[in-house]
Amino acid sequence: MIKSIEWCGSSVRFLDQTLLPGDEVYIDTEDPAVLIDAIKRLKVRGAPLLGIAAAYGLLLSLIPMRTASRDAFLVAADRSADAIAASRPTAVNLFWALERMKRLLRLNPHNAPDELFDMLQTEALAIHQEDRAMCDAIGVAGAALIPDGANVLTHCNTGALATGGIGTAFGVLYTAHRAGKRIVVYADETRPLLQGARLTMWELQKAGIPGVLITDNTAAWTIRTKRIDAIITGADRIAANGDTANKIGTYNLAVLAKEHGIPFYIAAPSSTVDTSIADGVAIVIEERSGDEVTRSFGTTTAPAGSSVFAPAFDVTPHHLISAIITDRGVHRPPFRGLVQR
Ligand code: MRU
Repeated sequence: MIKSIEWCGSSVRFLDQTLLPGDEVYIDTEDPAVLIDAIKRLKVRGAPLLGIAAAYGLLLSLIPMRTASRDAFLVAADRSADAIAASRPTAVNLFWALERMKRLLRLNPHNAPDELFDMLQTEALAIHQEDRAMCDAIGVAGAALIPDGANVLTHCNTGALATGGIGTAFGVLYTAHRAGKRIVVYADETRPLLQGARLTMWELQKAGIPGVLITDNTAAWTIRTKRIDAIITGADRIAANGDTANKIGTYNLAVLAKEHGIPFYIAAPSSTVDTSIADGVAIVIEERSGDEVTRSFGTTTAPAGSSVFAPAFDVTPHHLISAIITDRGVHRPPFRGLVQR
């Protein structure tokens, strides 16, 4: 399986996803600033992976502080956590992982920095390992919803590249395929950064799952003419009522699913559930540079000076979601059973 990120004891190794599918380049770094920059540039991306990367980034920044005073160690930890938290605002996994690490510091008020570091290292590795296990559980729960012979539409990238395991929505499809179900996955290219075309098609090919690439604006016609049985996507943050933030364009698909009478599923680990917010209104939606829209495919794709609206995510209202698949099972409306990890 693809290892999109790895803790190497005193450095982090990650796959630069911006170079896929052309080049498979791994970057080794001991510098937390390099990892933060990689998160901002989407070299490392996908909500669950951002949580793992945040934990490893915090660890990297504390390596030089192992022999410092306890106070200096705690100040450095706070500063580093703030810098990582400022990298991308929408995926709650990033904040959830940082909070888990900081909580450990609060719970151990008397330990020396080298002991604290060892505890944080164990915690970061646990965050990674637990994500792997949650992907497996999502896969098993979700595969039961995918009929043999199904055509399934997905958006963005939710596989091993985006997580610490087999993926979320992709993990469901992977598990169904491995169970012998004959599925075909239609992948939205996912403008503007093409995570569907570059990453999901790459992962489908590696897994031997039949895949068909479509441009985003082909989704409605595909549903009508190719007998799509279900739509499944991942999530970056799920509010207590089930409202779900995911890659821009997800909301369009949920509306299309309703119009065509097919199920619309979300698959995500319980670390993506944010019960501190009642609904999706409180979710901060990242806006990215308009250059990502006006300078696509390495060339100029809009007149200079074009004004651009470039949200990276949208929020799908809960009433359009047929089920939310987490590691704790399949949650149906009204989604009262959603629990934050
Ligand atoms: O901007 P990205 O590529 O980080 O956005 C990723 C998505 O929207 C994914 O669908 C989501 O994080 C779920 S990944 C399992």
